[in-house]
This record gives sequence, structure tokens and C-alpha cells, in this order.
Amino acid sequence: MIQEWRNYKKVILPDIPNLRDIDIYIKNGGYQAWKEVVGGKWERKEIIEMVKSANIRGRGGAGFNAGLKWSFMPPKKEGVPRYLACNGDESEPGTCKDRRIFEFNPHLFIEGALIACYAMEMDAAYVYIRGEYADWIDMMQAAIDQAYEKGFIGKNILGTGINIEMHIHKGAGAYICGEETSLMESLEGKRPYPRSKPPFPAQYGLWGKPTTINNIETLACVPLVIKNGPEWFKSIGAPDHPGPILYGISGHVNKPGVYEYPTGMKITDLIYEVAGGIRNGKKLKAVVPGGSSVPILRADEIEGITMNAASLAKVGTFLGTAGMCVLDEDTDIVKFLYRITRFYDHESCGQCTPCREGTGWLRKLVGRFMTGDATMRDLDLLLDLCDNMEGRTVCALADAAAWPVRNTILRFRQDFEKRVRPTAILVNA
Ligand SMILES: Cc1cc2nc3c(=O)[nH]c(=O)nc-3n(C[C@H](O)[C@H](O)[C@H](O)COP(=O)(O)O)c2cc1C
Ligand code: SF4
Repeated sequence: MIQEWRNYKKVILPDIPNLRDIDIYIKNGGYQAWKEVVGGKWERKEIIEMVKSANIRGRGGAGFNAGLKWSFMPPKKEGVPRYLACNGDESEPGTCKDRRIFEFNPHLFIEGALIACYAMEMDAAYVYIRGEYADWIDMMQAAIDQAYEKGFIGKNILGTGINIEMHIHKGAGAYICGEETSLMESLEGKRPYPRSKPPFPAQYGLWGKPTTINNIETLACVPLVIKNGPEWFKSIGAPDHPGPILYGISGHVNKPGVYEYPTGMKITDLIYEVAGGIRNGKKLKAVVPGGSSVPILRADEIEGITMNAASLAKVGTFLGTAGMCVLDEDTDIVKFLYRITRFYDHESCGQCTPCREGTGWLRKLVGRFMTGDATMRDLDLLLDLCDNMEGRTVCALADAAAWPVRNTILRFRQDFEKRVRPTAILVNA
């Protein structure tokens, strides 16, 4: 049952002043779950089962069940270290939610990462944060230092004999470093070319050791599940995609921002109530619901559609990172798409030919519509290019680049046709 969002009480970013301070966090029940976990209240397997049963679907974009992913870790071998990589690269355009956790509730994430490390018998957690978040890196470091001082991280945690270290790694401004295998290469100090899978990170991860990668918000949900139980978590939001979630709303709305609500909210409620409606009383033209790579929706498609996988699938799109971009009636959709293609062209790591060449061609071809040099055939050529990129590369960046092109043409074909060079229409006829 979808909860009445108006009465929703925030749990990831609650309105508690100075919650970043560890004493305030502890005063409000923080690290209680960690104390119980490390005190041996549950078997490691039980913790993984709880997280699996809660169905925390990864908040980094792919929506995979976190507990199920944890269960893929192989049995622990004596003397072989294991790692957690916490993904705070947050580079997908339209996404800026992990930053709020770093700033307003870093200990919730740290507690979740520690519980994950305990459940999967890991030795260390690496927190990968994009370098542009300089202030947020400092905030996170301060929070980690506080947790070390209190004995929640480090050697012999709370006298239990358990050792877990936590380190921050600064990114250097590449979108591809958010892709999990590229993130590991970057952490190892190499050029961040994504790795082919298999082997998967649970088998061959950081420095070739068993590793699990989770998004910051995913890990922040973990203490909530341990504290309140999986049934509580599942009672929030949409049954197929439950829990609290941070919606990032940007674009032509009156109140852009990051808002915590249950999953499964109506897109229209988010735009017209939470984000205060469209700027200057304009009408809606389109919405990109979950970060720049997910398929765009026309205004006439969103009625009754809610922000969860099953509902968004009905209109052919995804929840992604829940970073929603709202476009008003005056938006030049060709220009919007050109901006996106430029981004992916710039960010392709260049390792695979369909992506290295394809992203450049997408940008150039969409650019022809911008300058009035396109022909009708260029629309088919663009779709053909997408066919030759999707599912043919080492990582999903090529798909992320092709989907917006395919879906923008599919839904706004007329906007492109209007930009075809007039003489080209005659030549093509
Ligand atoms: C090109 C590309 C960029 C990505 N960037 C991010 C990112 O910035 N943050 C993130 O958490 N996941 C990102 N992902 C998804 C990760 O590969 C991975 O699925 C995720 O970190 C797993 O965490 P989760 O299961 O908790 O969501 C990206 C994926 C791709 C293909
Ligand atoms: S798909 Fe693109 S970004 Fe991913 S590995 Fe290949 S070239 Fe690099």
C-alpha cells in the first residue's frame, strides 16, 4: 500500500539540528544498531537475510536488491581480505542526493557501511567521493574521525576483537568512475577503464579480492532496517520498490531540491506539490524521472505514474537515481538532447569502439538538428547508431548515452522533423 506521503516523517534526513555531530546522532538512537550487530545479536547470515527481505533496491541506479547482492560474496578464506566500496561518485546529471547524506546525516551511512562490513566479513570500507565535493569530503572525514574516536571503527571495535577500517578516496572528475568496476580501477590507482564481467566483484574485486559495491543512500537504509525490521521498511512506499527515498528534483520547477519521501509517489505530486509547480505558471513538456540516462516522458504520459520500477516500466522508463528533471513547454528538446549527448561523448572512457565512436556520432548528428543541417535520414541514422551501441560494450555507459537519444526521438519526433533543412526534405522525398 502506498503510504500517504503528506504525513511522512523523514528517517534518512530527519529534521534534527546538527545531526552530523556524533553525540547528537547517538542521542537520537544512532549506532544502537551497530552496537547490537557487533555485540553478536544476529548471525551474519541473519543480517544479510534481513537486508534481503527488506528489498532495499540499490539507489545508485540499477535497483538491485542489496541483500541479494551481499549474499553473492563467497565464503571467507582465512588471510584473504575483503572490501566494501561505497559509491559516492554521484556524477549522473540530475543526481545530488548522496551529498545531502554526507552533509546532514553522515553517521547513518557510516553505520550502514559498518553493518555491511560485519555481515560480509570485510576488513575495510572505501568511500569513493567525487573530487568536486571538496567540502563534503571534509564533512565525511570529520564524521569518520569522530566514529574512530568513539571506537566504532578501527581495531578491536568496542572491545569485540573485530577490526574494520574506513578510508575516503577522492575522485578526479570522471563520470565513468561511478561505474562499479571503473571505481575499483580508480581506487587501485589505475586508469579507470571498466572491467569486463564476469568475474564479478564478489569474486574478483578490489586488488582481486572479494568486494561488494553499494551506493551511499543504499547503505544509509541499512541501519533503519536493522533497527526497525524488514517489515517496517517494506511498509513504506511501493511494494515492488519499498522504503524511503531521496528524490532530487531539478529543472523548471519553483522549488528545486532534494526531498525525502516514500518511493511510489506520483510524478505529478512531486512536481506540483513538493516542488511547487512549474516556474512562471508554464505547462509541462517532459520529465526525465531518474537521471539523464533514463528514457524521457512526455507530459501526457505521466498521469497516474508513480516513482517505482513497476509503474515506470509501464511507460518504458526507470527509477534510476530518482533524480528527476522537469522541462517546461518552452524547452528546446533538441538542445536539451544535444547537451546530454555532449556529456556522454565527453565522458566515454574510449575503451570500446561502439561507445568511443558512437557517443561522438550521436553528438555530431544531434548537433546537425541544432544548426539546421540535418536531413530526415539522420533520424534513422541516429536510431541505427543506438542499435549498434546498446548492449555491445564493456559497461553501460554506451546504453546510458543511447537511451536518451532513442527515447527523445521516439517521443518528440516532430521537434526533430521541424529542424530538418528544408531543401533536405525535398531531396529525401
Ligand atoms: C556509467 C555509469 C556511472 C555510474 N555512476 C554511479 C554513481 O555515480 N553512483 C552510484 O552509486 N552508482 C553509479 N553507477 C552504478 C554502479 O555501477 C553500481 O551499480 C552501484 O554503485 C551499485 O550500488 P547499489 O546497488 O547500492 O545501487 C553507475 C553506473 C554506470 C554504468
Ligand atoms: S562502454 Fe564506453 S565508458 Fe564503458 S568501457 Fe566502453 S568505452 Fe568505456
